[in-house]
Amino acid sequence: MFISDKLVAVLGDNSWIRKMYDRSCALQREKPYEKIYDLSLGNPVFEPPPIVVATMVKLLQSGKKGLHRYLPNQGLVMAREWVAAFINQRSRAASITSDLVMMSGGAGGAINIVLNTLLNPGDEVLIFQPYFVEYTHYIHNFAGVVRFVPTTPTFRPDLAAIEVALNPRSKVLLINSPNNPTGVVYSAEELQGLAELLLRAGRRFGHEIALVSDEPYTRIAYDGVAVPSVFDFYPHSFIASSFSKDLALAGERFGYIAVSPHCADAQRTMEALVSSQRVLGFVNAPSLLQHVLPELGDAMVAIEPYQQNRDTLYQQLLSSGYRCVKPQGAFYLFPEAPGGDDLAFIEAALRHNLVLVPGRTFGCPGHVRISFCFEPAYIEATLGIFSRLAHEFGIG
Ligand SMILES: Cc1ncc(COP(=O)(O)O)c(C=O)c1O
Repeated sequence: MFISDKLVAVLGDNSWIRKMYDRSCALQREKPYEKIYDLSLGNPVFEPPPIVVATMVKLLQSGKKGLHRYLPNQGLVMAREWVAAFINQRSRAASITSDLVMMSGGAGGAINIVLNTLLNPGDEVLIFQPYFVEYTHYIHNFAGVVRFVPTTPTFRPDLAAIEVALNPRSKVLLINSPNNPTGVVYSAEELQGLAELLLRAGRRFGHEIALVSDEPYTRIAYDGVAVPSVFDFYPHSFIASSFSKDLALAGERFGYIAVSPHCADAQRTMEALVSSQRVLGFVNAPSLLQHVLPELGDAMVAIEPYQQNRDTLYQQLLSSGYRCVKPQGAFYLFPEAPGGDDLAFIEAALRHNLVLVPGRTFGCPGHVRISFCFEPAYIEATLGIFSRLAHEFGIG
């Protein structure tokens, strides 16, 4: 009775993620003596690099005053300087300074702040299918309208489809590379193509279209593949990112927003982002981690276990007859569901004590998402299940 219509819709939409979580818990209760393999969540089991915890402990024991007070809404200069240096090191042309960076509560907080800052009611946000499951909610939070754009059969940006989707109400293109759930990394040529398209559309419609790059997996890429920066290609671009994955700090809610120095009205836009941080009630990003970040250098989680998991799972899927795009980054695989029905496949997997997420959760029925942010031994124990499922569905 008290719940708004908007949240009733959110509850309905979330049903698959909730259902998989409930099913996983129920399975564990039904089979207390059996091992359940839950590959549904992107919540890394690995610990943060030792320097993160050591720096936290050092600071907490140092007697330094003010570690837990309110901070400026934009964040500590020294934390923003770390982010500016990180972005400049990745980019050929950006040369961003700390005044165009704001620390945030994770990438999720960052995207909400950006959308609050940019959207008028009815403005459209383009997102590629499959998409990170929370995007539609984030967009609806600010009365934006979601415009879904299909990708190519290998989940790459489809310029012709984007051209069709762009219209005078288009305000934001929200992209994610390395991608959850597909693992695809957008190349320099693809970003260049997107940039040219957006610049042309902006001229046609008489207003700029913002490119928002959601990139919490930037540092998780395999085989030396480059993850180009949007700042090198498009002036009106924003980076929303976090340390949830590359420092394994998902629960600490720590991330940032950066505005390209070439963005129209960059300084004033940053002022508006800072105000959004306040009026949305986030106030400031977690204080302790803002003090810790400048001391971390280029420390990050080891990528080898992820690479090993990607290789063993991908090989197993391929040799068992599944069709799957090889992930270039992030820690998910997104194969076609044998038989074409993702729900039927998910149910069959549950009978083998394996928990996956149906592709329809990401706007892409007929696929399933497998998360591999787990210990390699845990992943190896699931290989036989994937091959048994392949036989059951007649592809193995
Ligand atoms: C693509 C993508 N964007 C944003 C987020 C949210 O990240 P954070 O935990 O930093 O809010 C996630 C988390 O899984 C994600 O996969």
